[in-house]
Amino acid sequence: LVASFQPKVLAGKRILVTAGPTFEAIDPVRGITNLSSGKMGYAVARAAREAGAEVILVSGPTALPTPFGVQRLNVQSAQQMHDAVMASVHGQHVFISVAAVADWRVVNPSTQKVKKTADGAVPDLKFEQNPDILATVAARTSLAGYPYCVGFAAESENLLEYGAAKREKKGIPLLVGNIGHHTFGQDDNTIILFDENGHTILPRADKLTLARQLISEISKRIDKHSL
Ligand code: CTP
Ligand code: CA
Repeated sequence: LVASFQPKVLAGKRILVTAGPTFEAIDPVRGITNLSSGKMGYAVARAAREAGAEVILVSGPTALPTPFGVQRLNVQSAQQMHDAVMASVHGQHVFISVAAVADWRVVNPSTQKVKKTADGAVPDLKFEQNPDILATVAARTSLAGYPYCVGFAAESENLLEYGAAKREKKGIPLLVGNIGHHTFGQDDNTIILFDENGHTILPRADKLTLARQLISEISKRIDKHSL
């Protein structure tokens, strides 16, 4: 019911959102993940849908229900998230990369459960870097059919400085910054929007309110971005 009262600022637009953590397998029963609950990404997907967009949500493992009217693709690893995004990104107007993507994966995860041994030996895990999904999409943004890109960054310190630098490094027009321990698993948050003109603080509110504000800010910026 509430949805029908939201202004349809994204009517006719296709929006691709990633959300949640990724899970990098060590063996069939164990893996490495992070503290992302998916709440902010799901709120963004919901707010985009309320604003009239057609929304695809590529989600890592979460305990959240799919927002009404949103098409959800479930993935586990960063590589799977990358593949799902690259398969659906062409023709999208906006890509909002909210997921907390694991930076590293375990090389050659075991196909059987690793057993504890009597001598106390520990597994010798080796890592390699995952593809940067957002940077890959952003590198194509000037090509026909590729979207306007929005990134998220959770920093533990120096948010103003790191946020502005990360936006430039990723080559994206808009980056949303938040302080990691203030957001993971929480229902509300404070966010800072970084764009080419500097930064704007959106004061503490619940994640759906912030997501609606973000969608409004994105809708004002995408008119100049042609598909
Ligand atoms: N991201 C991504 N793929 C990755 C890593 C990050 O798409 N392999 C996206 C995230 O979804 C987020 C943005 O990039 O929108 C910033 O993620 P963040 O972890 O803050 O930045 P990194 O470039 O990974 O730098 P670092 O973790 O070292 O701060
Ligand atoms: Ca990272």
